[in-house]
Amino acid sequence: MSATLVSLADISAAARRITGTVRRTPLLDVQTERGPLWLKCENLQPMGAFKLRGATNMLAQLSEKERRAGVVTYSSGNHGLAVAVAARALGTHAVVTVPETIAQVKLDGMRRAGAEVIYAGTTVIDRRRRADQEVVSRGLTMVPPFDHPWIIAGQGTTGLEILEQQPDVSTVYVPIGGGGLASGVATALKLSRPGVRVIGVEPAGAPKVTHSLAAGHPVTLDRTASIADGLLSLRPGELAFAHLQRYLDAVVTIEEDDIAAAVRWLFSEARLVAEPSGAVSVAAALAGSAVEPPGLPRPSMGPGVQQPSIYESHVHPEVLESGRQFAGRDPRLVRRSRGEGGSGPGNAGPAGAVVAIVSGGNVDPERYIDCLRPISPEPSP
Ligand SMILES: Cc1ncc(COP(=O)(O)O)c(C=O)c1O
Repeated sequence: MSATLVSLADISAAARRITGTVRRTPLLDVQTERGPLWLKCENLQPMGAFKLRGATNMLAQLSEKERRAGVVTYSSGNHGLAVAVAARALGTHAVVTVPETIAQVKLDGMRRAGAEVIYAGTTVIDRRRRADQEVVSRGLTMVPPFDHPWIIAGQGTTGLEILEQQPDVSTVYVPIGGGGLASGVATALKLSRPGVRVIGVEPAGAPKVTHSLAAGHPVTLDRTASIADGLLSLRPGELAFAHLQRYLDAVVTIEEDDIAAAVRWLFSEARLVAEPSGAVSVAAALAGSAVEPPGLPRPSMGPGVQQPSIYESHVHPEVLESGRQFAGRDPRLVRRSRGEGGSGPGNAGPAGAVVAIVSGGNVDPERYIDCLRPISPEPSP
């Protein structure tokens, strides 16, 4: 049985629903040596990440009875914080089951927002099991981190905002954990403007979507490891994967050094504090060339929806071009990206704007400082 996918109407309705609780974040252009890069600053959400969009969209749709009973989620960080903040805004009680190893900043944030925090082991299985118990024993509603149509529609509002803020957009890089953000954003963009390319980005140490696309179904990795701790899911969500398979143009993987370098770059060039999970998209945009084959051809997109051509050949030249303008290998593209031809509003060709979603900025200060230090110090003379 095929999954029912989120529609553009669902995402537009979510955008109306979350107004007031969720910030419309700025889209900043940063001049790189090789051309502008646009940054969608979800790190500037009130609780520091896009996760507030999906959580607010879900909580706002609960019945009066469900809201009175309260909600529960399992999270090591941003999703729990988002549910806590959304629950406070909408006047409901939130319970978050967290690992004993949770970063102090995230724990403090959840408590400040008034959430009830319950420690539950160290693995996602431990905290999910404990959250499931709270559903049964207290009648709470589960707010899953990514695999729910209301969560996906909420995260997709990021894509609608990008289209409004930069009509010239041609390529969007988006981080992937369980796949909620990428599926919502890809759906919003492809159903509004099929020619915009959407590139998912995951750490080389957590390539679950790369493997799943190649296999043609969600696969579970044995283990994942990365400084991008929001992207460590072992498996994409089933519903999220159905969206990614249909709408994503490509998925790329990023090495650890490049993730840390992107955190540093955002700090020094854009004055932005991003966590590693939020910076992988920028690493991909700056590297530009690392577009890998996404695997098997996607299912038909249905009448009226253009089939993205990246699936037809293993690497689409336009995707490579959009990256090369940052890698500096093609001066012609650099000029065009600086507005010397071909990239005016309404013309979202390959020379249009390249956007990287900076998905979060909640940082553990000690690890953040580590990211700001170059990984390989210059050898002394
Ligand atoms: C900052 C940040 N970026 C990206 C993600 C990945 O989001 P998703 O699980 O919806 O793919 C997360 C997940 O926690 C996150 O915290």
